[in-house]
Amino acid sequence: MAKTVLVTGGTGTLGTLVTPLLRAAGVCVRVLSRTARAGADGIEYVAGDLRTGAGIAEAVADADTVLHLAGTQKGDGAKTQTLVDAIDAAGVFPHLVYISVVGAERVPVESALDRQTMAYMASKREAELVVENSGLPWTILRATQFHDLLFTMVSALGKMPVVPVFDFRFQPIETAEVARRLVELTLGEPAGLVEEIGGPRVYTMKELERSYLRAVGKRRPVITIKAPGKASRVYAAGGNLTPEHAVGERTWEEFLAAKLATA
Ligand SMILES: NC(=O)c1ccc[n+]([C@@H]2O[C@H](COP(=O)([O-])OP(=O)(O)OC[C@H]3O[C@@H](n4cnc5c(N)ncnc54)[C@H](OP(=O)(O)O)[C@@H]3O)[C@@H](O)[C@H]2O)c1
Repeated sequence: MAKTVLVTGGTGTLGTLVTPLLRAAGVCVRVLSRTARAGADGIEYVAGDLRTGAGIAEAVADADTVLHLAGTQKGDGAKTQTLVDAIDAAGVFPHLVYISVVGAERVPVESALDRQTMAYMASKREAELVVENSGLPWTILRATQFHDLLFTMVSALGKMPVVPVFDFRFQPIETAEVARRLVELTLGEPAGLVEEIGGPRVYTMKELERSYLRAVGKRRPVITIKAPGKASRVYAAGGNLTPEHAVGERTWEEFLAAKLATA
């Protein structure tokens, strides 16, 4: 019988690229979403919320593998604990695959200021620890920032008459390349913390913003601001980068040209 893979976050930017690949691989795909949806394209949807725990028992029932992609800016540790608790209660023993972020263990989130600026990094690390301590067979992949996320960032900032950017650098990766790697890991054996995955080049936030403004024909001053706090300093020093794992192929320039051509 075909394996059942539960994908949390299967409706998100990454998740919608993962689910067709899993279908093509012949597994039964179940997606958790906070919104009730009718099944489509061979995918079953289960309504549930990892913040409240509603519907999670139904989502994890009989799952052979759980690919956990659901995430928000904060609170992913607690959401992941809710998922693991529901798996325990259901008496199933799935391979738990988790998508984290490069730098989750390196960026120290200690002060109130750090928690304001870098809650996301702390939240991803907390979730990693929940996965590692779950007692389940697990795999964690850390990725750098996706092209799609950075496009959302530069296009939102580009609406301002003067564009403030932090002294950060990014190593953008094509979301579809992360999706392909996650599918390989999901179909494979539990592997623990695997080699992280980053895009082909590192750019300053200013370079990303300027390339966007140039591409859309806008002229704006772009001003770099030093981000405050210890966590931001570590981030600015490259805590979110992995140049030694620059395995992504599609560049930011290629992504941007294709994105704007279809916009
Ligand atoms: N974007 C990046 O650059 C990047 C880099 C490294 C790692 N990641 C990680 O990759 C994962 C996916 O990112 P993404 O950009 O695809 O995110 P996204 O587009 O914002 O999608 C978020 C997903 O999480 C689900 N979700 C949110 N809160 C939930 C809750 N309380 N209960 C159940 N589901 C919930 C949403 O489902 P519904 O709305 O249907 O409920 C949605 O499918 C995240 O874990 C993120 O931290 C992202």
